[in-house]
Amino acid sequence: MGEVDPAFVQDAQHRPKLAVIEAEGIPLIDLSSANASNHVSQIADACKNWGFFQVINHGVPSESRRKILDAARKFFALPAEEKRKVSRDEVNPMGYFDIEHTKNVRDWKEVFDFVVRTLAFGPASDDPDDKELIELTNRWPQYPPELREICEEYARETEKLAFKLMGLISLSLGLPENRFNLFFEESTSFVRLNHYPPCPVPHLALGVGRHKDPGALTILGQDDVGGLEVKRKTDGEWIRVKPTPDAYIINVGDIIQVWSNDTYESVEHRVILNSERERFSIPFFSNPAHHLWVQPLEELTKGGKPKYRAYNWGKFFATRKRSNLKKLDVENLQISHFKASE
Ligand code: OGA
Ligand code: NI
Repeated sequence: MGEVDPAFVQDAQHRPKLAVIEAEGIPLIDLSSANASNHVSQIADACKNWGFFQVINHGVPSESRRKILDAARKFFALPAEEKRKVSRDEVNPMGYFDIEHTKNVRDWKEVFDFVVRTLAFGPASDDPDDKELIELTNRWPQYPPELREICEEYARETEKLAFKLMGLISLSLGLPENRFNLFFEESTSFVRLNHYPPCPVPHLALGVGRHKDPGALTILGQDDVGGLEVKRKTDGEWIRVKPTPDAYIINVGDIIQVWSNDTYESVEHRVILNSERERFSIPFFSNPAHHLWVQPLEELTKGGKPKYRAYNWGKFFATRKRSNLKKLDVENLQISHFKASE
């Protein structure tokens, strides 16, 4: 294995297989208005049977996406000490970092995070008794100078898509289209620029280890390299999602699982590395306000029991964000910890 840091090495059962299973039948939803009468049933089917899907004709200008991928490439090409000038810290999690751990194994990647709303607030610590809030402020690098504007524009465009998708998901659950809107009014949504450098040991390490996204919904834009794998719900196989030009991949996150009382389950996924090519991806993580208590919606638990106890989104997020910076001896916080007893 040479000089590769053992912190990156996955346990044998989590290492990627070399034989790739290319996904077949992944739902591809055309969001153009000509197809509107099919949207709700297509979303219901995709969320229930796959937990993820791709969308085309989604309204986000391809120019906006091309620009952010270019700007990300320029930023990550900077010398390490330049990037570290905008490093996140223990209190405000926005900015650059390259030491994320997923399930206590280090990810082979570097990232840059920024919040979509300025004046987004979050808890100052993960201590449930500490009521102090901090502002989640963005740290913009000097170079490339256009990064900030491009990122802000991209965030506005993808946020519109997030609202559209949440509306369709709401309708697909038999709820009014705007049922979720209030939850996002003071959103803690953020966008991440991901850079996966070429890796000399792609059979041992992962770009991101297996995980489910903790927020409501993720809108993933990516270049044409590919590497995302999702766990197929029918047989538990890891399948590779081939990039479709201009499409977005949408993942159901843990919060939709809780709101829908398990009608829709979040999808497990991970990122495989490439020994020759670097890869860039840009997820938009759609997250509610920090003060929101996440719990199954009353309309969906009628005649049954809520399957989760309420949890505070801000504290959950703060706990996960901080624990991911280091290797722990215990599993980090998961929604399964809030599962109600039968
Ligand atoms: C993530 C993630 C997938 C990708 O950042 O949570 O799952 O393809 N990324 O970069
Ligand atoms: Ni993810």
